[in-house]
Amino acid sequence: MTTNIKLISWVKEMAELCKPDSVYWCNGSDEEFKQMTNGLIGNGTFIKLNESKRPNSFYCHSDPSDVARVEDRTFICSNKEEDAGPTNNWVAPTEMKELLLKKFDGSMIGRTMYVIPYSMGPLGSDISQIGIELTDSRYVVCNMKIMTRMGSFVLDILGNGDFVHCLHSVGAPLKDGEKDSYWPCNPEKYIVHFPEEKTIWSFGSGYGGNALLGKKCFALRIASNMAREEGWLAEHMLIVGITSPEGEKKYIAAAFPSACGKTNLAMLTPTLPGWKVETIGDDIAWMKFGDDGRLYAINPEAGFFGVAPGTSMDTNPNAILSMNKNSIFTNVALTPDGDVWWEGMTDHQEPEKLVNWLGNDWTPGSKENAAHPNARFTSPASQCPVIDPAWESPRGVPISAILFGGRRAKVVPLVYEALNWQHGIFMGSIVSSETTAAATGKVGKVRHDPFAMLPFCGYNMGDYFAHWLKIGNKAEVSKLPKIFFINWFRKDDNGEFLWPGYGENIRVLKWIFDRTNDKDSAIKTPIGYLPKLDSIDISDMDFPIDNLKELLRIDSELWLEDAKDIREFYSIFGEKLPNELLKEVEMLEDRLKS
Ligand code: GTP
Ligand code: SPV
Ligand code: MN
Repeated sequence: MTTNIKLISWVKEMAELCKPDSVYWCNGSDEEFKQMTNGLIGNGTFIKLNESKRPNSFYCHSDPSDVARVEDRTFICSNKEEDAGPTNNWVAPTEMKELLLKKFDGSMIGRTMYVIPYSMGPLGSDISQIGIELTDSRYVVCNMKIMTRMGSFVLDILGNGDFVHCLHSVGAPLKDGEKDSYWPCNPEKYIVHFPEEKTIWSFGSGYGGNALLGKKCFALRIASNMAREEGWLAEHMLIVGITSPEGEKKYIAAAFPSACGKTNLAMLTPTLPGWKVETIGDDIAWMKFGDDGRLYAINPEAGFFGVAPGTSMDTNPNAILSMNKNSIFTNVALTPDGDVWWEGMTDHQEPEKLVNWLGNDWTPGSKENAAHPNARFTSPASQCPVIDPAWESPRGVPISAILFGGRRAKVVPLVYEALNWQHGIFMGSIVSSETTAAATGKVGKVRHDPFAMLPFCGYNMGDYFAHWLKIGNKAEVSKLPKIFFINWFRKDDNGEFLWPGYGENIRVLKWIFDRTNDKDSAIKTPIGYLPKLDSIDISDMDFPIDNLKELLRIDSELWLEDAKDIREFYSIFGEKLPNELLKEVEMLEDRLKS
């Protein structure tokens, strides 16, 4: 138990507001997890999977209206509107609180309020942070147990210290004797952040980033505010260790928008002999400078909340092996023998009959997908066969390269390198990508997603660009990571991917690895350093050199159009846009024209 007065009185106050039948302090034990999952089975939320195939694992499907992050319902309620900036929804905090107090009033009637103490980051790391989430969802408790370091021990570490206040309700109070829904939620959703108070209030959704408040809400939106104040970085990045056949090891961090390949790159199985890839994290990186002047990264999470469709023993065997026990599957399909299935899981054996993500019978050949495109698995990171030995290192791992990337059918080459740090920040700021099913709304529409942080930056994105520039100015240039841009998703005129991707991406990582050792394998072009044609290793792969040429081709006309579009995007930031970035567009245009 805790003697933290702030915590005790906050829990009391929130319980008085939400009016749950009872308050339960989670201890984080396996016994407790079992009680929770049993409760969820009793409620019809969870179906236990076949114990001999997938021990201690569960299938569930959400309400069809609650399947992804809701960006249009996400708010940054800073005191001043300009601190939320043009890319965030803003409402004055007092106004939002007034509105939400009404929503939360009695929102937990008929339910239990669970108190979840959790640490983002390895215990004992001075980069780690503590949060307390209050929730009326057992589904959230079970997922937080996998995704974070959760339990009573966190209260011991917290002592009388401060924590991020996270309040969550599915917004579905139960009347006396009323039967609960399998997936309670509210048609009206609010995902609200009060950055100055380090407080999150989430109402109406039970899904992923909307409800597991340690993830996007805390580890990115609130933490990006802390990072700005304190001079570090909270980023939507995977962290991966790469060892060359010579035994040299380097760590890379990479920011790609949601459902654009972070989990896959984080645990890639190399097709090039002798190369080894090990996982630190697949979604979020917190980075601080070490005493040696290098940038060190930790993964604040303890599990993967990964995209299921497209994940197979061919594309990502390490993800498949990570989820072979102790996992939760949301919005996938259920097989007759009590296991899970999704589109792209197997090339050969398509089950004859399934229960689809809506809970209905499904047969192959059906027009609808069996799994929702944003179906997810929740699995402990410790179960990943290639988890890096240093993944819980309190100090973090030193980063040698930072990658930005997106899903672009045209224009953007397979890989290129920044001319210098400032140009690299420019490259991060011009990430644009086709939208995916990870958020509600239209899929496949190209939008600007700077640093893959558009939905996750908790303050003015113009200030965020300035923060990144400042980080570079403080550091010794030779110790800064080199910056690269990648695009696995370029398509030919028939709409087919030009690059095979997945394990073959090691060939691109190899070039990047060599460039961090200053290998002379690049040519200078108007957009940055590109690989010399023969420096991407395509040995032992059936890949026409013409396709590689196409993947590395730069069309100046199209890039000049992109530059125009960048200027237009930049204009929304007004005075907040750092001059350096405007200068970078100018220089890019000049280089393209000359
Ligand atoms: P979030 O968890 O939403 O942040 O996503 P993520 O960035 O971790 O994306 P993930 O690795 O889960 O990949 C999303 C989808 O892209 C999956 O369906 C993958 O199969 C597919 N994908 C990943 N890497 C590649 C690649 O190299 N090439 C192609 N063509 N598809 C890929
Ligand atoms: C993303 O959308 O980038 C995710 C999934 O990683 S969620 O946890 O729902 O944010
Ligand atoms: Mn993500």
